[in-house]
Amino acid sequence: MSSSRGKSGTCWRAQSRGGLGNPLQALGGESPSPPEPRRPPATAQRTAMESSWLETRWARPLYLAFVFCLALGLLQAIKLYLRRLRLLRDLCRFPAPPIHWFYGHQKLFQDGKMEKFEELVEKYPCAFPCWVGPFQAFFYIYDPDYARIFLGRTDPKSKYPHKFLIPYLGKGLLSLDGPQWFQHRRLLTPGFSVNILKLYVEEMAHSVKTMLGKWEKICSSQDTVVEVYEHISLMTLDILMKCAFSQETNCQISSTHDLYVKTMFEANKITFYRLYSFLHHDDIIFKFSPQGHRLQEMAKILHQYTENLIQDRKKFLKDEKKHGSTQKQKYQDFLDVILSAQAENGNSLSDTDLRSEMNTLMLAGHDTTAGSISWLLYYLALNPEHQERCREEIRGILGDGSSITWDQLGEMSYTTMCIKESLRLAPPVPSISRELSKPITFPDGRSLPAGITVVLNIWGLHHNPAIWENPKVFDPLRFSQENSDQRHPHSFLPFSAGPRNCIGQHFAMIELKVAIALILLHFKVAPDPTRPLVFLHQMVLKAKNGVHLHLKKLP
Ligand code: HEM
Repeated sequence: MSSSRGKSGTCWRAQSRGGLGNPLQALGGESPSPPEPRRPPATAQRTAMESSWLETRWARPLYLAFVFCLALGLLQAIKLYLRRLRLLRDLCRFPAPPIHWFYGHQKLFQDGKMEKFEELVEKYPCAFPCWVGPFQAFFYIYDPDYARIFLGRTDPKSKYPHKFLIPYLGKGLLSLDGPQWFQHRRLLTPGFSVNILKLYVEEMAHSVKTMLGKWEKICSSQDTVVEVYEHISLMTLDILMKCAFSQETNCQISSTHDLYVKTMFEANKITFYRLYSFLHHDDIIFKFSPQGHRLQEMAKILHQYTENLIQDRKKFLKDEKKHGSTQKQKYQDFLDVILSAQAENGNSLSDTDLRSEMNTLMLAGHDTTAGSISWLLYYLALNPEHQERCREEIRGILGDGSSITWDQLGEMSYTTMCIKESLRLAPPVPSISRELSKPITFPDGRSLPAGITVVLNIWGLHHNPAIWENPKVFDPLRFSQENSDQRHPHSFLPFSAGPRNCIGQHFAMIELKVAIALILLHFKVAPDPTRPLVFLHQMVLKAKNGVHLHLKKLP
Protein backbone atom coordinates (compact mmCIF):
# COMPACT_ATOMS: atom_id res chain seq x y z
CA MET A 1 0.00 0.00 0.00
CA SER A 2 2.61 2.39 1.07
CA SER A 3 4.79 1.86 -2.06
CA SER A 4 1.92 2.29 -4.45
CA ARG A 5 0.92 5.46 -2.62
CA GLY A 6 4.55 6.55 -2.90
CA LYS A 7 4.55 5.98 -6.66
CA SER A 8 1.37 7.74 -7.30
CA GLY A 9 2.59 10.54 -5.08
CA THR A 10 5.78 10.88 -7.17
CA CYS A 11 3.78 10.77 -10.32
CA TRP A 12 1.43 13.48 -9.12
CA ARG A 13 4.29 15.70 -8.01
CA ALA A 14 6.06 15.23 -11.31
CA GLN A 15 2.89 16.03 -13.16
CA SER A 16 2.21 19.03 -11.16
CA ARG A 17 5.77 20.25 -11.81
CA GLY A 18 4.98 19.73 -15.49
CA GLY A 19 8.05 17.49 -16.26
CA LEU A 20 6.00 14.42 -17.29
CA GLY A 21 2.92 16.06 -18.58
CA ASN A 22 2.57 13.73 -21.61
CA PRO A 23 2.91 10.00 -20.84
CA LEU A 24 4.14 9.18 -24.37
CA GLN A 25 6.93 11.71 -24.05
CA ALA A 26 7.85 10.13 -20.82
CA LEU A 27 8.20 6.76 -22.59
CA GLY A 28 10.48 8.32 -25.23
CA GLY A 29 7.86 8.03 -27.99
CA GLU A 30 7.01 10.69 -30.57
CA SER A 31 4.39 13.07 -29.73
CA PRO A 32 1.65 12.98 -32.35
CA SER A 33 0.41 16.43 -31.56
CA PRO A 34 1.83 19.53 -29.85
CA PRO A 35 1.90 19.13 -26.11
CA GLU A 36 -1.25 20.20 -24.38
CA PRO A 37 -0.90 23.25 -22.20
CA ARG A 38 -0.17 22.25 -18.63
CA ARG A 39 -3.25 22.20 -16.44
CA PRO A 40 -2.75 22.68 -12.70
CA PRO A 41 -5.11 20.76 -10.45
CA ALA A 42 -8.41 22.52 -9.68
CA THR A 43 -7.52 23.78 -6.13
CA ALA A 44 -4.19 25.24 -7.11
CA GLN A 45 -5.79 26.86 -10.08
CA ARG A 46 -8.49 28.39 -7.87
CA THR A 47 -5.94 29.71 -5.35
CA ALA A 48 -3.93 31.33 -8.06
CA MET A 49 -7.04 32.86 -9.53
CA GLU A 50 -8.24 34.09 -6.15
CA SER A 51 -4.94 35.70 -5.31
CA SER A 52 -4.78 37.49 -8.59
CA TRP A 53 -8.43 38.45 -8.24
CA LEU A 54 -7.63 39.75 -4.75
CA GLU A 55 -4.64 41.61 -6.03
CA THR A 56 -6.48 43.28 -8.83
CA ARG A 57 -9.83 43.75 -7.12
CA TRP A 58 -8.85 44.70 -3.57
CA ALA A 59 -5.28 45.92 -3.57
CA ARG A 60 -6.17 49.32 -4.89
CA PRO A 61 -9.17 50.03 -2.62
CA LEU A 62 -7.23 48.72 0.37
CA TYR A 63 -4.35 50.93 -0.48
CA LEU A 64 -6.65 53.91 -0.93
CA ALA A 65 -8.40 53.17 2.39
CA PHE A 66 -5.04 53.00 4.12
CA VAL A 67 -3.96 56.33 2.65
CA PHE A 68 -7.34 57.82 3.56
CA CYS A 69 -7.06 56.67 7.19
CA LEU A 70 -3.51 57.94 7.38
CA ALA A 71 -4.60 61.31 6.05
CA LEU A 72 -7.50 61.42 8.49
CA GLY A 73 -5.21 60.54 11.38
CA LEU A 74 -2.76 63.19 10.30
CA LEU A 75 -5.53 65.76 9.97
CA GLN A 76 -6.82 64.89 13.42
CA ALA A 77 -3.30 65.18 14.85
CA ILE A 78 -2.86 68.59 13.21
CA LYS A 79 -6.28 69.67 14.52
CA LEU A 80 -5.37 68.60 18.05
CA TYR A 81 -1.99 70.26 17.83
CA LEU A 82 -3.59 73.52 16.64
CA ARG A 83 -6.14 73.22 19.43
CA ARG A 84 -3.34 72.92 21.97
CA LEU A 85 -1.58 75.98 20.51
CA ARG A 86 -4.84 77.94 20.59
CA LEU A 87 -5.54 76.97 24.20
CA LEU A 88 -1.98 77.82 25.25
CA ARG A 89 -2.36 81.23 23.60
CA ASP A 90 -5.84 81.89 25.08
CA LEU A 91 -4.90 80.89 28.61
CA CYS A 92 -1.40 82.35 28.78
CA ARG A 93 -2.56 85.41 30.73
CA PHE A 94 -3.58 83.21 33.64
CA PRO A 95 -0.79 81.57 35.65
CA ALA A 96 -1.24 77.85 36.27
CA PRO A 97 0.36 75.16 38.46
CA PRO A 98 3.24 73.31 36.71
CA ILE A 99 1.91 71.31 33.76
CA HIS A 100 3.00 67.86 32.60
CA TRP A 101 3.10 68.00 28.75
CA PHE A 102 0.99 64.85 28.39
CA TYR A 103 -1.10 64.47 31.57
CA GLY A 104 -1.53 68.19 32.20
CA HIS A 105 -2.89 68.55 35.75
CA GLN A 106 -4.67 65.21 35.64
CA LYS A 107 -2.51 63.69 38.38
CA LEU A 108 -3.07 66.70 40.63
CA PHE A 109 -6.82 66.11 40.78
CA GLN A 110 -7.23 62.43 40.06
CA ASP A 111 -7.39 61.39 43.70
CA GLY A 112 -10.28 63.86 44.18
CA LYS A 113 -8.91 65.31 47.45
CA MET A 114 -10.29 68.76 48.17
CA GLU A 115 -7.33 70.23 50.05
CA LYS A 116 -5.50 70.66 46.73
CA PHE A 117 -8.02 73.31 45.68
CA GLU A 118 -7.49 75.26 48.88
CA GLU A 119 -3.74 75.50 48.24
CA LEU A 120 -4.31 76.51 44.62
CA VAL A 121 -6.96 79.12 45.47
CA GLU A 122 -4.47 80.81 47.76
CA LYS A 123 -1.64 80.67 45.26
CA TYR A 124 -3.54 81.72 42.12
CA PRO A 125 -6.02 84.51 42.88
CA CYS A 126 -9.37 84.55 41.02
CA ALA A 127 -8.73 81.74 38.52
CA PHE A 128 -6.35 79.24 36.96
CA PRO A 129 -6.41 76.98 33.88
CA CYS A 130 -6.46 73.27 34.59
CA TRP A 131 -5.17 70.97 31.83
CA VAL A 132 -6.69 67.54 31.40
CA GLY A 133 -4.29 65.85 29.01
CA PRO A 134 -2.43 67.68 26.23
CA PHE A 135 -5.44 68.99 24.29
CA GLN A 136 -8.13 69.89 26.83
CA ALA A 137 -8.18 72.59 29.49
CA PHE A 138 -10.84 73.75 31.95
CA PHE A 139 -10.75 77.27 33.29
CA TYR A 140 -11.40 77.28 37.05
CA ILE A 141 -12.82 80.42 38.67
CA TYR A 142 -13.51 81.07 42.39
CA ASP A 143 -13.80 84.83 42.72
CA PRO A 144 -17.23 86.44 43.44
CA ASP A 145 -16.86 89.06 40.68
CA TYR A 146 -15.84 86.41 38.18
CA ALA A 147 -18.81 84.31 39.37
CA ARG A 148 -21.24 87.23 38.96
CA ILE A 149 -20.24 87.76 35.34
CA PHE A 150 -20.18 84.03 34.61
CA LEU A 151 -23.65 83.31 36.08
CA GLY A 152 -25.22 86.39 34.52
CA ARG A 153 -24.77 84.89 31.03
CA THR A 154 -26.65 82.14 29.24
CA ASP A 155 -23.78 79.93 28.07
CA PRO A 156 -24.76 76.30 27.50
CA LYS A 157 -23.75 73.55 29.91
CA SER A 158 -20.30 72.27 29.13
CA LYS A 159 -19.91 68.98 27.29
CA TYR A 160 -17.89 67.81 30.26
CA PRO A 161 -19.42 66.48 32.45
CA HIS A 162 -22.98 67.02 31.24
CA LYS A 163 -22.79 64.89 28.13
CA PHE A 164 -21.40 62.14 30.39
CA LEU A 165 -24.63 62.24 32.42
CA ILE A 166 -26.87 61.62 29.44
CA PRO A 167 -26.19 57.87 29.05
CA TYR A 168 -27.62 57.08 32.47
CA LEU A 169 -29.94 60.01 33.23
CA GLY A 170 -31.21 60.93 29.78
CA LYS A 171 -31.62 64.59 28.78
CA GLY A 172 -33.16 66.33 31.75
CA LEU A 173 -32.91 69.82 33.26
CA LEU A 174 -29.30 69.29 34.30
CA SER A 175 -28.04 68.70 30.77
CA LEU A 176 -30.55 70.51 28.52
CA ASP A 177 -29.98 73.96 27.05
CA GLY A 178 -31.80 76.66 25.10
CA PRO A 179 -35.54 76.62 24.41
CA GLN A 180 -35.92 72.96 25.39
CA TRP A 181 -34.41 73.63 28.83
CA PHE A 182 -36.63 76.69 29.22
CA GLN A 183 -39.75 74.70 28.37
CA HIS A 184 -38.91 71.88 30.80
CA ARG A 185 -37.99 74.32 33.58
CA ARG A 186 -41.31 76.14 33.12
CA LEU A 187 -43.23 72.86 33.29
CA LEU A 188 -41.41 71.59 36.38
CA THR A 189 -41.34 74.81 38.43
CA PRO A 190 -44.93 74.43 39.82
CA GLY A 191 -43.78 71.19 41.48
CA PHE A 192 -41.56 73.25 43.79
CA SER A 193 -44.09 75.92 44.78
CA VAL A 194 -44.51 76.72 48.49
CA ASN A 195 -48.02 75.21 48.56
CA ILE A 196 -46.68 71.86 47.39
CA LEU A 197 -43.53 71.95 49.53
CA LYS A 198 -45.62 72.62 52.66
CA LEU A 199 -47.32 69.27 52.21
CA TYR A 200 -43.98 67.45 52.19
CA VAL A 201 -42.94 68.49 55.73
CA GLU A 202 -44.97 65.72 57.35
CA GLU A 203 -43.67 63.09 54.92
CA MET A 204 -40.08 64.19 55.56
CA ALA A 205 -40.55 64.04 59.35
CA HIS A 206 -41.97 60.54 59.02
CA SER A 207 -38.90 59.31 57.11
CA VAL A 208 -36.50 60.95 59.57
CA LYS A 209 -38.31 59.26 62.46
CA THR A 210 -37.94 55.88 60.75
CA MET A 211 -34.18 56.45 60.64
CA LEU A 212 -34.11 57.56 64.28
CA GLY A 213 -35.94 54.35 65.19
CA LYS A 214 -33.11 52.39 63.59
CA TRP A 215 -30.52 54.45 65.47
CA GLU A 216 -32.35 53.86 68.75
CA LYS A 217 -32.12 50.13 68.24
CA ILE A 218 -28.40 50.34 67.44
CA CYS A 219 -27.66 52.53 70.49
CA SER A 220 -30.15 50.98 72.91
CA SER A 221 -27.66 50.23 75.68
CA GLN A 222 -24.70 52.55 75.21
CA ASP A 223 -23.41 55.19 72.81
CA THR A 224 -22.08 53.64 69.63
CA VAL A 225 -20.09 54.71 66.58
CA VAL A 226 -22.32 54.58 63.50
CA GLU A 227 -21.51 55.22 59.84
CA VAL A 228 -24.37 57.67 59.39
CA TYR A 229 -24.03 58.53 55.68
CA GLU A 230 -25.54 55.26 54.53
CA HIS A 231 -28.53 55.64 56.86
CA ILE A 232 -29.04 59.24 55.82
CA SER A 233 -28.72 58.37 52.15
CA LEU A 234 -31.49 55.77 52.45
CA MET A 235 -33.57 58.28 54.39
CA THR A 236 -33.25 60.97 51.69
CA LEU A 237 -34.03 58.36 49.06
CA ASP A 238 -37.14 57.42 51.05
CA ILE A 239 -38.20 61.10 51.17
CA LEU A 240 -37.61 61.60 47.48
CA MET A 241 -39.46 58.44 46.54
CA LYS A 242 -42.47 59.72 48.46
CA CYS A 243 -42.32 63.32 47.27
CA ALA A 244 -41.45 62.51 43.66
CA PHE A 245 -43.46 59.32 43.12
CA SER A 246 -45.69 58.90 46.22
CA GLN A 247 -43.92 55.56 46.64
CA GLU A 248 -43.86 53.98 50.07
CA THR A 249 -40.81 51.87 49.34
CA ASN A 250 -39.86 51.05 52.91
CA CYS A 251 -36.32 51.27 51.57
CA GLN A 252 -34.88 52.23 54.95
CA ILE A 253 -35.96 48.94 56.46
CA SER A 254 -35.87 46.47 53.59
CA SER A 255 -32.91 46.46 51.24
CA THR A 256 -34.89 46.11 48.00
CA HIS A 257 -33.82 49.53 46.78
CA ASP A 258 -30.18 49.23 47.67
CA LEU A 259 -29.44 48.26 44.08
CA TYR A 260 -30.76 51.62 42.89
CA VAL A 261 -28.66 53.54 45.46
CA LYS A 262 -25.55 51.52 44.68
CA THR A 263 -26.06 51.86 40.94
CA MET A 264 -26.48 55.64 41.10
CA PHE A 265 -23.40 55.87 43.35
CA GLU A 266 -21.24 53.80 41.03
CA ALA A 267 -22.50 55.60 37.91
CA ASN A 268 -21.46 58.96 39.41
CA LYS A 269 -18.07 57.58 40.32
CA ILE A 270 -17.44 56.33 36.80
CA THR A 271 -18.57 59.66 35.37
CA PHE A 272 -16.16 61.56 37.58
CA TYR A 273 -13.35 59.17 36.67
CA ARG A 274 -14.17 59.78 33.00
CA LEU A 275 -14.02 63.53 33.51
CA TYR A 276 -10.39 63.41 34.56
CA SER A 277 -9.28 60.69 32.16
CA PHE A 278 -9.01 62.45 28.81
CA LEU A 279 -8.67 59.24 26.78
CA HIS A 280 -12.17 58.31 27.94
CA HIS A 281 -13.63 61.61 26.74
CA ASP A 282 -13.94 59.99 23.35
CA ASP A 283 -17.32 58.22 23.18
CA ILE A 284 -16.06 55.24 21.19
CA ILE A 285 -13.02 54.58 23.40
CA PHE A 286 -15.21 54.93 26.49
CA LYS A 287 -17.95 52.70 25.12
CA PHE A 288 -15.54 49.82 24.66
CA SER A 289 -13.72 50.33 27.97
CA PRO A 290 -14.70 48.23 31.03
CA GLN A 291 -16.09 51.37 32.70
CA GLY A 292 -18.15 52.27 29.63
CA HIS A 293 -19.52 48.76 29.50
CA ARG A 294 -20.45 48.87 33.19
CA LEU A 295 -22.15 52.24 32.76
CA GLN A 296 -24.31 50.85 29.97
CA GLU A 297 -25.44 48.05 32.28
CA MET A 298 -26.16 50.51 35.06
CA ALA A 299 -28.11 52.81 32.75
CA LYS A 300 -30.41 49.89 31.98
CA ILE A 301 -31.03 49.28 35.70
CA LEU A 302 -31.77 52.96 36.39
CA HIS A 303 -34.02 53.42 33.35
CA GLN A 304 -35.93 50.26 34.12
CA TYR A 305 -36.48 51.35 37.69
CA THR A 306 -37.88 54.77 36.76
CA GLU A 307 -39.79 53.39 33.79
CA ASN A 308 -41.63 50.92 36.06
CA LEU A 309 -42.60 53.70 38.45
CA ILE A 310 -43.94 55.87 35.64
CA GLN A 311 -45.90 53.05 34.02
CA ASP A 312 -47.37 52.06 37.40
CA ARG A 313 -48.59 55.63 37.93
CA LYS A 314 -50.07 55.87 34.46
CA LYS A 315 -51.94 52.64 35.08
CA PHE A 316 -53.11 53.90 38.46
CA LEU A 317 -54.43 57.14 36.92
CA LYS A 318 -56.15 55.20 34.15
CA ASP A 319 -57.83 52.86 36.65
CA GLU A 320 -58.81 55.81 38.78
CA LYS A 321 -60.47 57.48 35.81
CA LYS A 322 -62.28 54.28 34.89
CA HIS A 323 -63.49 53.12 38.29
CA GLY A 324 -63.50 56.40 40.23
CA SER A 325 -60.91 57.16 42.89
CA THR A 326 -60.57 54.47 45.53
CA GLN A 327 -57.32 55.37 47.25
CA LYS A 328 -56.69 59.10 47.03
CA GLN A 329 -53.12 60.37 47.14
CA LYS A 330 -52.29 62.56 50.12
CA TYR A 331 -50.55 65.22 48.05
CA GLN A 332 -49.52 66.09 44.52
CA ASP A 333 -46.05 64.68 43.85
CA PHE A 334 -43.48 65.63 41.18
CA LEU A 335 -44.71 62.88 38.90
CA ASP A 336 -48.27 64.25 39.08
CA VAL A 337 -46.98 67.72 38.27
CA ILE A 338 -45.02 66.48 35.26
CA LEU A 339 -47.81 64.18 34.05
CA SER A 340 -50.35 66.99 34.22
CA ALA A 341 -47.89 69.28 32.44
CA GLN A 342 -47.52 66.57 29.79
CA ALA A 343 -51.30 66.32 29.43
CA GLU A 344 -51.77 70.09 29.23
CA ASN A 345 -48.99 70.67 26.75
CA GLY A 346 -49.79 67.96 24.26
CA ASN A 347 -46.64 66.37 22.95
CA SER A 348 -44.26 68.93 24.41
CA LEU A 349 -42.99 66.38 26.95
CA SER A 350 -42.50 62.88 25.54
CA ASP A 351 -42.35 59.74 27.66
CA THR A 352 -38.56 59.76 27.25
CA ASP A 353 -38.47 63.37 28.49
CA LEU A 354 -40.57 62.32 31.43
CA ARG A 355 -38.24 59.48 32.36
CA SER A 356 -35.18 61.71 31.96
CA GLU A 357 -36.65 64.39 34.22
CA MET A 358 -37.59 61.88 36.90
CA ASN A 359 -34.08 60.36 36.76
CA THR A 360 -32.59 63.83 36.95
CA LEU A 361 -34.66 64.75 40.01
CA MET A 362 -33.63 61.50 41.68
CA LEU A 363 -29.95 62.17 41.04
CA ALA A 364 -30.02 65.89 41.80
CA GLY A 365 -32.24 65.61 44.85
CA HIS A 366 -30.98 62.52 46.62
CA ASP A 367 -27.19 62.54 46.96
CA THR A 368 -26.97 66.29 47.44
CA THR A 369 -29.33 66.32 50.41
CA ALA A 370 -27.83 63.13 51.91
CA GLY A 371 -24.41 64.78 51.77
CA SER A 372 -25.55 68.11 53.16
CA ILE A 373 -27.27 66.52 56.20
CA SER A 374 -24.26 64.27 56.88
CA TRP A 375 -21.70 67.08 56.64
CA LEU A 376 -23.82 69.31 58.89
CA LEU A 377 -24.03 66.57 61.54
CA TYR A 378 -20.28 66.09 61.30
CA TYR A 379 -19.55 69.81 61.80
CA LEU A 380 -21.99 69.94 64.74
CA ALA A 381 -20.23 66.92 66.23
CA LEU A 382 -16.89 68.74 65.92
CA ASN A 383 -18.39 71.90 67.44
CA PRO A 384 -20.46 70.84 70.48
CA GLU A 385 -21.16 74.44 71.56
CA HIS A 386 -23.01 75.14 68.28
CA GLN A 387 -24.74 71.77 68.50
CA GLU A 388 -26.06 72.64 71.96
CA ARG A 389 -27.23 76.08 70.83
CA CYS A 390 -29.17 74.55 67.93
CA ARG A 391 -30.71 71.95 70.25
CA GLU A 392 -31.89 74.64 72.67
CA GLU A 393 -33.41 76.64 69.84
CA ILE A 394 -35.17 73.58 68.43
CA ARG A 395 -36.51 72.49 71.84
CA GLY A 396 -37.88 76.00 72.34
CA ILE A 397 -39.77 75.78 69.04
CA LEU A 398 -40.76 72.10 68.76
CA GLY A 399 -40.95 70.88 72.36
CA ASP A 400 -40.65 67.09 72.13
CA GLY A 401 -40.87 67.15 68.34
CA SER A 402 -44.03 65.08 68.10
CA SER A 403 -45.23 67.39 65.34
CA ILE A 404 -43.42 69.81 63.05
CA THR A 405 -44.91 72.47 60.77
CA TRP A 406 -43.79 74.70 57.93
CA ASP A 407 -44.10 77.84 60.09
CA GLN A 408 -41.93 76.37 62.85
CA LEU A 409 -39.16 75.73 60.32
CA GLY A 410 -39.08 79.46 59.57
CA GLU A 411 -38.30 80.24 63.23
CA MET A 412 -35.05 78.26 63.40
CA SER A 413 -32.67 81.14 62.78
CA TYR A 414 -29.53 79.82 64.54
CA THR A 415 -29.97 76.34 63.06
CA THR A 416 -30.33 77.96 59.62
CA MET A 417 -27.03 79.79 60.13
CA CYS A 418 -25.37 76.47 61.01
CA ILE A 419 -26.86 74.87 57.89
CA LYS A 420 -25.50 77.69 55.72
CA GLU A 421 -22.06 77.50 57.33
CA SER A 422 -21.97 73.78 56.65
CA LEU A 423 -23.05 74.35 53.02
CA ARG A 424 -20.19 76.86 52.77
CA LEU A 425 -17.56 74.52 54.18
CA ALA A 426 -18.76 71.48 52.27
CA PRO A 427 -20.85 72.50 49.24
CA PRO A 428 -22.61 69.31 48.05
CA VAL A 429 -22.16 70.39 44.41
CA PRO A 430 -18.48 71.42 44.46
CA SER A 431 -18.35 72.82 40.93
CA ILE A 432 -20.49 73.70 37.92
CA SER A 433 -19.40 74.35 34.35
CA ARG A 434 -20.38 76.00 31.07
CA GLU A 435 -18.92 76.26 27.58
CA LEU A 436 -18.51 79.90 26.55
CA SER A 437 -20.75 80.72 23.59
CA LYS A 438 -19.14 84.14 23.18
CA PRO A 439 -16.04 85.83 24.60
CA ILE A 440 -16.08 86.84 28.25
CA THR A 441 -14.21 89.70 29.92
CA PHE A 442 -13.62 89.57 33.65
CA PRO A 443 -13.59 92.67 35.90
CA ASP A 444 -9.78 92.81 35.91
CA GLY A 445 -9.80 93.20 32.10
CA ARG A 446 -8.53 89.70 31.29
CA SER A 447 -10.69 87.84 28.81
CA LEU A 448 -11.30 84.45 27.23
CA PRO A 449 -12.63 83.59 23.76
CA ALA A 450 -15.71 81.51 22.95
CA GLY A 451 -15.35 77.72 23.20
CA ILE A 452 -13.47 77.59 26.53
CA THR A 453 -14.97 75.44 29.30
CA VAL A 454 -15.30 77.54 32.44
CA VAL A 455 -15.75 75.80 35.79
CA LEU A 456 -17.13 77.75 38.73
CA ASN A 457 -15.40 76.00 41.60
CA ILE A 458 -17.90 76.51 44.42
CA TRP A 459 -15.59 74.76 46.90
CA GLY A 460 -12.77 77.18 45.97
CA LEU A 461 -15.13 80.18 46.22
CA HIS A 462 -16.32 79.08 49.68
CA HIS A 463 -12.74 78.57 50.90
CA ASN A 464 -11.31 81.68 49.28
CA PRO A 465 -9.30 83.49 52.00
CA ALA A 466 -9.81 86.78 50.13
CA ILE A 467 -13.52 86.59 51.10
CA TRP A 468 -13.71 84.41 54.18
CA GLU A 469 -11.57 85.04 57.23
CA ASN A 470 -10.17 81.74 58.55
CA PRO A 471 -12.04 79.83 55.86
CA LYS A 472 -11.55 76.43 57.51
CA VAL A 473 -13.21 77.45 60.79
CA PHE A 474 -16.88 76.54 61.37
CA ASP A 475 -18.43 79.88 62.36
CA PRO A 476 -22.20 80.13 61.83
CA LEU A 477 -22.20 83.81 62.79
CA ARG A 478 -20.75 84.61 59.39
CA PHE A 479 -24.39 84.26 58.28
CA SER A 480 -25.93 86.67 60.80
CA GLN A 481 -27.87 89.41 59.05
CA GLU A 482 -25.25 92.11 59.63
CA ASN A 483 -22.32 89.96 58.53
CA SER A 484 -24.14 88.74 55.42
CA ASP A 485 -25.13 92.27 54.39
CA GLN A 486 -21.49 93.26 54.07
CA ARG A 487 -20.54 90.38 51.85
CA HIS A 488 -20.49 90.13 48.06
CA PRO A 489 -23.80 88.46 47.02
CA HIS A 490 -21.84 85.96 44.89
CA SER A 491 -19.58 84.78 47.72
CA PHE A 492 -21.92 82.01 48.86
CA LEU A 493 -23.40 79.91 46.05
CA PRO A 494 -24.25 76.37 47.23
CA PHE A 495 -27.32 76.38 44.98
CA SER A 496 -25.69 78.45 42.23
CA ALA A 497 -27.50 81.63 41.09
CA GLY A 498 -29.17 83.18 38.05
CA PRO A 499 -31.64 81.49 35.71
CA ARG A 500 -30.05 78.05 36.11
CA ASN A 501 -29.99 78.00 39.88
CA CYS A 502 -31.12 74.91 41.76
CA ILE A 503 -34.82 74.28 41.23
CA GLY A 504 -34.91 72.15 44.41
CA GLN A 505 -33.19 74.56 46.83
CA HIS A 506 -36.26 75.24 49.01
CA PHE A 507 -37.06 71.54 49.06
CA ALA A 508 -33.48 70.87 50.18
CA MET A 509 -33.55 73.56 52.88
CA ILE A 510 -36.76 72.26 54.46
CA GLU A 511 -35.46 68.69 54.34
CA LEU A 512 -32.24 69.81 56.05
CA LYS A 513 -34.16 71.65 58.77
CA VAL A 514 -36.60 68.81 59.44
CA ALA A 515 -33.80 66.24 59.57
CA ILE A 516 -31.41 68.18 61.78
CA ALA A 517 -34.17 69.33 64.15
CA LEU A 518 -35.44 65.81 64.80
CA ILE A 519 -31.94 64.28 65.02
CA LEU A 520 -30.71 66.84 67.55
CA LEU A 521 -33.86 66.45 69.67
CA HIS A 522 -33.18 62.75 70.09
CA PHE A 523 -29.40 62.30 69.78
CA LYS A 524 -26.15 63.90 70.82
CA VAL A 525 -23.43 63.50 68.19
CA ALA A 526 -19.65 63.44 68.70
CA PRO A 527 -16.81 62.77 66.24
CA ASP A 528 -14.80 59.55 66.08
CA PRO A 529 -11.21 60.86 66.26
CA THR A 530 -9.87 57.67 64.66
CA ARG A 531 -11.93 58.22 61.52
CA PRO A 532 -11.94 61.87 60.42
CA LEU A 533 -14.05 62.88 57.44
CA VAL A 534 -12.15 62.92 54.14
CA PHE A 535 -13.98 64.61 51.28
CA LEU A 536 -13.80 63.42 47.69
CA HIS A 537 -14.56 65.68 44.74
CA GLN A 538 -16.99 63.80 42.53
CA MET A 539 -20.05 65.04 40.65
CA VAL A 540 -21.40 65.66 44.14
CA LEU A 541 -19.18 65.83 47.19
CA LYS A 542 -18.55 62.42 48.78
CA ALA A 543 -16.96 61.09 51.95
CA LYS A 544 -14.04 58.81 51.12
CA ASN A 545 -14.54 56.48 54.10
CA GLY A 546 -18.06 57.35 55.18
CA VAL A 547 -19.13 59.60 58.08
CA HIS A 548 -18.49 57.95 61.44
CA LEU A 549 -20.11 59.53 64.51
CA HIS A 550 -20.67 58.63 68.15
CA LEU A 551 -24.41 58.65 68.73
CA LYS A 552 -25.77 59.08 72.23
CA LYS A 553 -29.51 58.73 72.80
CA LEU A 554 -30.90 61.66 74.77
CA PRO A 555 -33.37 60.97 77.58
C1 HEM B 1 -28.37 70.58 49.44
C2 HEM B 1 -28.92 70.14 48.36
C3 HEM B 1 -28.70 70.66 46.97
C4 HEM B 1 -27.66 71.39 46.47
C5 HEM B 1 -26.44 71.89 47.20
C6 HEM B 1 -27.94 71.64 45.07
C7 HEM B 1 -27.12 72.37 44.23
C8 HEM B 1 -27.40 72.63 42.90
C9 HEM B 1 -26.58 73.40 42.02
C10 HEM B 1 -25.26 74.06 42.41
C11 HEM B 1 -27.17 73.43 40.81
C12 HEM B 1 -26.65 74.12 39.54
C13 HEM B 1 -26.04 73.09 38.64
C14 HEM B 1 -25.42 73.70 37.39
O1 HEM B 1 -25.56 74.86 37.12
O2 HEM B 1 -24.80 72.92 36.65
C15 HEM B 1 -28.36 72.66 40.91
C16 HEM B 1 -29.24 72.44 39.86
C17 HEM B 1 -30.33 71.62 39.96
N1 HEM B 1 -30.82 71.02 41.11
FE1 HEM B 1 -30.05 71.13 42.95
N2 HEM B 1 -29.12 71.03 44.75
C18 HEM B 1 -29.63 70.45 45.88
C19 HEM B 1 -30.81 69.77 45.99
C20 HEM B 1 -31.70 69.56 44.98
C21 HEM B 1 -32.95 68.88 45.11
C22 HEM B 1 -33.53 68.37 46.42
C23 HEM B 1 -33.48 68.80 43.86
C24 HEM B 1 -34.77 68.18 43.41
C25 HEM B 1 -35.57 67.47 44.10
C26 HEM B 1 -32.56 69.45 42.95
C27 HEM B 1 -32.73 69.55 41.60
C28 HEM B 1 -31.92 70.28 40.76
C29 HEM B 1 -32.15 70.41 39.33
C30 HEM B 1 -33.24 69.72 38.54
C31 HEM B 1 -31.16 71.26 38.84
C32 HEM B 1 -30.99 71.75 37.40
C33 HEM B 1 -31.70 73.08 37.29
C34 HEM B 1 -31.64 73.71 35.92
O3 HEM B 1 -30.58 73.66 35.29
O4 HEM B 1 -32.65 74.27 35.53
N3 HEM B 1 -31.49 69.90 43.66
N4 HEM B 1 -28.49 72.18 42.19
